[in-house]
Parts: sequence; C-alpha cells; structure tokens
Amino acid sequence: MAERQAQDTAHTTPKDADGGEAAPAAEAPDAQGTTEAAPERPVEQRKNGVTPQVSDELAENMKHGWADTERRDLTPLPQVEHTARRRAALSARFPGERLVIPAGRLKTRSNDTDYPFRAGVEYVYLTGDQTEDGVLVLEPTGAEGHEATLYLLPRSNRENGEFWLSGQGELWVGRRNSLTEAARLYGLEVKDVRTVADLLRGASGPVRVVRGHDATIEAALTDKVTAERDEELRVFLSEMRLVKDEFEIEQLSRACAATARGFEDVVRVLDKAVATSERYIEGTFFLRARVEGNDVGYGSICAAGPHATTLHWVRNDGPVRPGELLLLDAGVETTELYTADVTRTLPIDGRFTALQRRIYDAVFEAQEAGIAAVKPGAKYRDFHQAAQRVLAERLVEWGLLEGPVERALELGLQRRWTLHGTGHMLGLDVHDCAAARRETYVEGTLEPGMCLTVEPGLYFQPDDLTVPEEYRGIGVRIEDDILVTEDGNRNLSAALPRRSDEVEAWMAALRG
Ligand code: GLY
Ligand code: MN
Ligand code: MN
Repeated sequence: MAERQAQDTAHTTPKDADGGEAAPAAEAPDAQGTTEAAPERPVEQRKNGVTPQVSDELAENMKHGWADTERRDLTPLPQVEHTARRRAALSARFPGERLVIPAGRLKTRSNDTDYPFRAGVEYVYLTGDQTEDGVLVLEPTGAEGHEATLYLLPRSNRENGEFWLSGQGELWVGRRNSLTEAARLYGLEVKDVRTVADLLRGASGPVRVVRGHDATIEAALTDKVTAERDEELRVFLSEMRLVKDEFEIEQLSRACAATARGFEDVVRVLDKAVATSERYIEGTFFLRARVEGNDVGYGSICAAGPHATTLHWVRNDGPVRPGELLLLDAGVETTELYTADVTRTLPIDGRFTALQRRIYDAVFEAQEAGIAAVKPGAKYRDFHQAAQRVLAERLVEWGLLEGPVERALELGLQRRWTLHGTGHMLGLDVHDCAAARRETYVEGTLEPGMCLTVEPGLYFQPDDLTVPEEYRGIGVRIEDDILVTEDGNRNLSAALPRRSDEVEAWMAALRG
C-alpha cells in the first residue's frame, strides 16, 4: 500500500474496537456536504493510538480554497426502472412492515487494512448502489405501499476538517456522491446514514431486516425483529432473483464476453505459465477481470494436471506441464456485480492425447445433453439427470463402472467420478439464489429469464486404484452459462469453443 501523504494525519483509518463505527461527525452535513454553522473539529480515533497534532493555522487553511464540484448534470443509472420495479414487488409482499436492507460494512483483512468492499447483493439488487454503510429502508405508508429512502454518508465536511482528518474523509477514501447526486443517480430519496440507527431504534411497528451485513443496524433492531421473519425476507429476495430482468441478462452477457477475453489472455501466455506456475494463469485472468469489471466473481480455479481433480483448487501454486490438461474455472464479475462462471479444460501443449480426448469428448457429450434439457417448463433437475446419464453410459462402456446403466444411476455409483451437481443459478452471486426454497429452485421448473450453469465433469483422482493408471490424475469439466429463453435456451458463453477439435484450433490460432 502506498504511503499516504498528509503529514499530520496518522496512516490509519479510525474505527471503534469492533471495526464498526466511523469517527463521529460534529454535525450532519446537508445534501451538499456542507453545514450552516462551523462545527467542532472531529476528535480523531486512530487504531494505532497516534493523535495527530493540527495547528489552528493549518486547520483554518484547510477550510478554504476548494472548488464546488457538485455534479448537477447527472442522469439516473440505467437500472433505475428495474430497481424501482423490484422494490415494488418487495413492497407488495410485505405490506405495512418496515423493511431494512443494509449494504454492509468494510471487513478487516488484517490490523488496519480492509478487504475491498462488496455490497450485499440484496442492497445492490434493490438500489443499484454499492456504497459501504448504505442502508435502504422501505417505510410503510399505511396498509399498502412503502416509501423508499436510501441512507448514505454525505460528502465530507470541510469546515470541521472531517474531509482530511477522519478516516472516512474524502481525502483518504475518495470523493463520494453528495446526497443530491445520489438521489439523482438512484431515483430514490436519500438521507444521511448517521441518522438511521436512531431512527430505527425509535421506530414502532413490524420490522424485518436482511441479516449478515451490518451488525450496527441489526443491534438497533434487536428487540424488534425475529429470525424467522427476517428469514422470510431473505428467502423472498433470493427467489425474486431466480428470474433475471433485461438489465441483468445484459450484465450476465457482458460478464461472459469479458470472461471469454480472459480465457484468450490465458491461452496466449500458457508458455509463461509453463515457465512459472498456475499463479501466472490466475494473475492473467485477474488482470482482465479488474480492467473490464469489478473483480473475479469467485476465486479462479487454475488447476493444471492432477489438480484438476480437486474441485475447488484455488491455491493455484502448482506446476503447469506440457502433455497435461489445464482446468480453468473462472469468471469476470461486471462493475454492477454480475458474474460469469465458465470452465474450459485445455491441453497445455495445444493437443489432446487420445485418452484425454476420449474423456473430454464424453464430458462434452454430457454437457450437450444437459444444455438440450434447459428449456421453459422443464424440471430444474432434468439437465443434471441428462448429463449424468451420458457420463454413466461412457463409464460403463469403458469398463470402469459396473452396468447396467440404470442400476448405476439409481444407486448413484457414477458419482465416484462425477462428484458434483451439474449446475446452479447464476447472477449477483456465483451460486445465486441460495436462499430459495427447494420447491422453487432444485425441485422447481425452469422459466424464461433464469440463468444457470451446465457443468458436468469427470475426475479420476491420482490415488484411485479402481481405474487404470493412465486415467489417474485426469480431470475434465466444461461449464457454460445458459439463459432460459421463451423457446429453449441461449448459451451466453458460446464465444469460447467447446468441441475438442475446435478447442485445439482456437488455441493454435491464439498462440500463433
Ligand atoms: N466455480 C464454481 C462453480 O463452478 O460452481
Ligand atoms: Mn459453476
Ligand atoms: Mn465454475
């Protein structure tokens, strides 16, 4: 981390012992981030105990000479229509109840450094905002309907020095939207978040909160909420996200397009990975994710050789050897936080061996069968069963699995080598809609707008004595992101080839 410049400020951000509260401001600024009266200079709270000395002359000097940077020409974010529609659906489900959806807070990584912030998905889904400490409150307006208010930290106060003396001051963390700017961007009424905990503490009537993001907000509501009722809110929001709207489909398409470019980047530098390690692959894909999106949507699995048989191999510290396979499972997350989840299994030297190809082609065939089963009206389980059947048939054919196939499938015996389910919903989370009930998700029916992965695999562990030696240490998965359409499906990650011969031709073209 670069050394910060302000001479008299300690090089740490202020937080209380539980890492929650920012240094108190002397007075809440208005929407422009200014105050009428000149409030007291904030008392600094530094984790390292250093109290910086600020002369009155410097404090006075720092108040002046700053331009008005208020942006008066902002247009609303493209998703505002969608966030408004989502809030309306939420409002209709919980009439007469106050609903509280926090963005979450920074999490400490170590000592005084934090993880990069990623806002809670429920908050992002309902507001389009991603600011730490934000809180969305839906206030009931009677028996029906709600008024939505977004609570955010305003621009830093300059009169009292907050903007350069407080750890959440904009000279440390960057310019924030003024409350007026935020109102314009998100199409919501916006108020100062420093008032929200008191407001919630003092409020009467039924309340529900999305838990797990903001301990301070939950503490303010502790005697007003129950776990069961909050869980109903969480489940509803998760199930709302099963069917994606146009904005979300566009985001997922973008995530897949950027991910395809990231895979191309990796193929181009495979020689460098061979000279170093799997880390070169991880770093290469990460560069694409950070330049085109927000981040990777999950820890990239850069599994060369036998590491491909470890399903969540994210250590990525192994050798990359010609003659072996690379299983790369990675996804770019867009700036609006929608992620792709794509796997390709590639011959590191550009050509599959005969056995690698046989296994790869079986997985490809299973994936084809799985994708063909993704259509409106199909049961969610159908694509899994279609893919498993193909894999079981091949395993029986190769003499690895005792037939008949029906019996093997009934007893699930193929799972020694297929290991995992064939897919999951995809969206703001890589394993999206995880709080949805069984009857709406795994035991549910596919509908247009759902987006899911189809990702069969075969994995022969290096120490599996039940298969011939040449199989051991081979792992293959192929994973694509499939949108259910009105008349079938669309493969959002189709830009990356899947057939074994097409994979070889694509790699050859990229490596020149
Ligand atoms: N990348 C994790 C998964 O495929 O589910
Ligand atoms: Mn997946
Ligand atoms: Mn994956």
